[in-house]
Amino acid sequence: MMPPAASEIHSMQSKGPAPVSVVDSIRYWAGQLEQAGVFFGHGTDNAWDEAATLVLHAASLDHDTPGAGDTRLTQAQLAQIQDYFQRRIGEREPAAYITGEAWFAGLRLSVDRRVLIPRSPFAELILTDFMPWRSAAPVRRILEIGTGSGCIAIAAALQWPESQVVATDISAAALDVARVNRATHGLEGRLSFVQADLLAGISGHYDLIITNPPYVPAAEVPDLPAEYLHEPGLGLASGADGLASARRILQDAPPLLAPEGLLALEVGVGWPALEAAFPQLPFLWPEFDAGGEGIALLAAADLAAAQ
Ligand SMILES: C[S@@+](CC[C@H](N)C(=O)[O-])C[C@H]1O[C@@H](n2cnc3c(N)ncnc32)[C@H](O)[C@@H]1O
Repeated sequence: MMPPAASEIHSMQSKGPAPVSVVDSIRYWAGQLEQAGVFFGHGTDNAWDEAATLVLHAASLDHDTPGAGDTRLTQAQLAQIQDYFQRRIGEREPAAYITGEAWFAGLRLSVDRRVLIPRSPFAELILTDFMPWRSAAPVRRILEIGTGSGCIAIAAALQWPESQVVATDISAAALDVARVNRATHGLEGRLSFVQADLLAGISGHYDLIITNPPYVPAAEVPDLPAEYLHEPGLGLASGADGLASARRILQDAPPLLAPEGLLALEVGVGWPALEAAFPQLPFLWPEFDAGGEGIALLAAADLAAAQ
């Protein structure tokens, strides 16, 4: 049997029992997302995956559930889907805030508007052990600055099972979300959270300092796609040129790095500005198979020598 056309699905939703399958609904709503010109980039990069995320969530199905696509949706599920896409299209709310979950480095995380939606290319660096960029010395002490949902700290703790991880954020609300995710992944014993203004009050020596601080020039935030404006402003804006946090981190990190340590600092599309602002620093810029850009790596010795 041919699947119903998109317009038929729409009208079926308001009539009696609707023989609408999951895949019919995904097809219809993917078309609606494209037509509406929503922005992708908070977990998916295309209309089909975005529609699938919301439809499957409303139907309480996983992507890999056998036969998920053929499952017939109930009237209650169709109403839920309608509501989800009203929020996604009408209000430009990111799908992750609608479902309350996001995926990072293969891990499920709870998210809401208190935290940025995880999407950093740090996932790829962590899963590939930061090789060939770091020394072969074991990673025992990790510091993450600006943890948000805790995604990077949690993925790092799981990648290096012998490590102790300290993760900071200036936002108490974000740390509440991070604690929920820490409990989900059973890391209370190895991951501690500290409310701090970047590196103020942080002590110790770390093999790895990882940070995805805010890096959008403040004046550019209002012009971002509307989806970003649902995220906490603290996670985005960083001074006039976007480098205010990066400057402070580069200044304060050297005494906190172990002799063989590595600093990894994300600045995204701001990487040419960082290069221009610190010509004396020999940044390395990994490339990513899964997309993304702008993570600067600096060995402790290089950072110390340049300063
Ligand atoms: C770009 S988000 C990154 C969140 C998370 N690490 C991720 O990759 O999804 C930046 C985070 O830094 C936090 N932040 C902003 N300013 C800060 C500061 N001065 N000190 C500590 N954390 C800060 C924000 O609250 C936010 O959670």
